[in-house]
Amino acid sequence: TWTPDAFVETTVASLKREIGDDKVILGLSGGVDSTVAAVLLHKAIGNHLHCIFVNNGLLRKNEFEEVLEQYKHMGLNVKGVDASARFLDALAGEEDPEKKRKIIGGIFIDVFDDEAHKVEDAKWLGQGTIYPDRIESVSASGGPSATIKSHHNVGGLPDYMKLKVVEPLKMLFKDEVRRVGATLGIADERLGRHPFPGPGLAIRILGDVTREKVTILQEVDAIFINGLREWGLYDDVWQAGAMLLPVHSVGVMGDERTYEKCVALRAVESTDGMTADWVNLPYEFLQKMSNDIINKVPGVNRVVYDISSKPPATIEWE
Ligand code: XMP
Repeated sequence: TWTPDAFVETTVASLKREIGDDKVILGLSGGVDSTVAAVLLHKAIGNHLHCIFVNNGLLRKNEFEEVLEQYKHMGLNVKGVDASARFLDALAGEEDPEKKRKIIGGIFIDVFDDEAHKVEDAKWLGQGTIYPDRIESVSASGGPSATIKSHHNVGGLPDYMKLKVVEPLKMLFKDEVRRVGATLGIADERLGRHPFPGPGLAIRILGDVTREKVTILQEVDAIFINGLREWGLYDDVWQAGAMLLPVHSVGVMGDERTYEKCVALRAVESTDGMTADWVNLPYEFLQKMSNDIINKVPGVNRVVYDISSKPPATIEWE
């Protein structure tokens, strides 16, 4: 029978044999799969594993700094690259969801390729691909861990894609990846993290993306996600987040009439993201979130809760 301990032992041994003294580069996303793949590879080849963690400016509030710190704490040889300005400048004025994805995918490739070139003599590209990624190939919108794979369409392969590929998790399902991660000593908080899309908050800001909108959405999202944790609801939900709608509506504040933004909160149950149901969160919780968001986030005067299931709706709004 399969056990995580046996898996780690045999995989580390075979990675050592296969890779020898070569260098490997790997893109970390903050997600479960890339993190577990990195820790496994690090166990096998130590600092010959060079990890790259890119800030695209579209992550959750403080995510880049906090997760980078955690990676360093785990002993990983990781370089954090803050490319926020490149991504946000390139997105300016773009409203079309698929074009936004293409822009983000294209810049990611450029940034990753630049960084990969700085690792002299790298021979391998490590990836956190898991079994379902390979059978489903890439669904229409990508799939949670498809960031690197889904954007080959840029005219000639970037150099890092010419490297030999090593995918230590390619035979595993998600729950097995989590068990391997636990055996490797990775914190529960990281292993239980909700999926988060590669294009990040860009596809939760309907219409064009600006720095101001990103900041507003980061604040709203942080209140919602921290609220789920504080109320013990986080683990009952498969994925949650907030959408910034391209809508202004009238409100009152004191004696003043306001005309401000509206956010939609979304929380779903799912097993693989292919179908999903909205979660019946307690009204008291939603009431508290609505009050906190409207009181604490300037520019937002209305909160709605999304009660649509997939299909026919999707999880993300773009
Ligand atoms: P939808 O909105 O299609 O989302 O119901 C299903 C799952 O996929 C994630 N998602 C993406 N992940 N790149 C990604 O890496 C994308 O472009 C993308 N679009 C959607 C979404 O967060 C959900 O988990």
